Amino acid sequence: MKRWSSHRLLLLLLCILIAAIPLIAARGQSGPASRAAAPTDVPKSLRDLAAGRGILIGTAVEPLPVRADPDYAPLLTREFNLLTTENVLKMGPLRPDITTYYFEEADFLVDFAESNGMKVRGHTLVWHNQLPEWMTDRTYTTSEMTWIVNDHITTVVERYRGRIWAWDVVNEAVLDDGSLRPNVFLQTMGPDYIEKAFEWARAADPDALLFYNDFGAEALNAKSDAIYAMVKDFVERGVPIDGVGLQMHVDVNSPPNPADVASNIMRLSALGLQVQITEMDVRTSGDPSEAERQAQIYAAMLEICLEAPACTAFETWGFTDKYTWLGTQTAPLLFDPLYDPKPAFFALLDVLNRAADQSPLP
Ligand code: G3I
Repeated sequence: MKRWSSHRLLLLLLCILIAAIPLIAARGQSGPASRAAAPTDVPKSLRDLAAGRGILIGTAVEPLPVRADPDYAPLLTREFNLLTTENVLKMGPLRPDITTYYFEEADFLVDFAESNGMKVRGHTLVWHNQLPEWMTDRTYTTSEMTWIVNDHITTVVERYRGRIWAWDVVNEAVLDDGSLRPNVFLQTMGPDYIEKAFEWARAADPDALLFYNDFGAEALNAKSDAIYAMVKDFVERGVPIDGVGLQMHVDVNSPPNPADVASNIMRLSALGLQVQITEMDVRTSGDPSEAERQAQIYAAMLEICLEAPACTAFETWGFTDKYTWLGTQTAPLLFDPLYDPKPAFFALLDVLNRAADQSPLP
């Protein structure tokens, strides 16, 4: 047998040592090398949980607090993935005169939303309120008003083509008794101003979702019946409409009946339309004892939305009582003026958590 040279023995020893290194290293660890465990105790945000349920969770936003309040934007982008332009895309703030479009503030919000992975709801193209004086301080002929509204919708929607996910094309055109609101558009152009607005919006951005948006029509009543009939007619005639926004501005003492809201959403979705809760707030007297009831109302409406496949977004009208349009003392939102979460916030988290447990996504 050939004698092994010292050289070969050394080589063999070296191979054994190299093979043993991983074993020696492993003994230094307590158990298998484990990845740092993902933090499981960090509560998920509304945004994270809603994404897991396939709906968007949004809120109305003004530029001022985004710019000036250091606590505002971090909470907004943590909890919401849909931003509604509260005022800056309304005709009044947008058009100080007939030849001027003041887009700077809307551009700021759309840029902010995009840089934070948020979709944008453009609010609103045709509304009787917050109109500029040049629209109301004189009368226009039918052809003049038709040109004005067509030019407005085309200019605004084309500017944000591909950047604004959904538009409130026409806002609050129906009265409580179900008749059409006698606004300047109806008086000048006649009732088909509504469908014309949707046609012009579709032509300006074929991919944006187009909504009719209103208040006081969440449950079953003369107003919601009239809106249902109107959008049913639109669908049957091929007027380009994608959904109905239920604003959900409610009072803690007289919330809509959840079963009636569910029935209304059901009949609208049977038309093939999306239905979204677009502006929820729950007005209180400011008495903290009302906070639990307020939380139950928020939770009930989100549960109804989650149970309806056609309900694709749930939005509040602001998120902190600090900036609500209703006045801070009415405490209508999810966070108090110091940005502390209220029972309503935890109630929404709980609904989204329970929904996740009940039917994990496929
Ligand atoms: O920007 C001006 C400011 O320059 C001026 O100094 C100040 C005082 O006159 O007014 C400011 O404009 C105000 C605007 O909000 C922005 O803060 C208007 O006066 C005020 O009327 C306007 O109120 C808005 C209201 O719509 C108008 O009806 C609210 O912020 C807004 O939250 C509210 O939102 C509506 C939705 O668009 C439709 N659904 C109902 C909802 C609540 O009313």
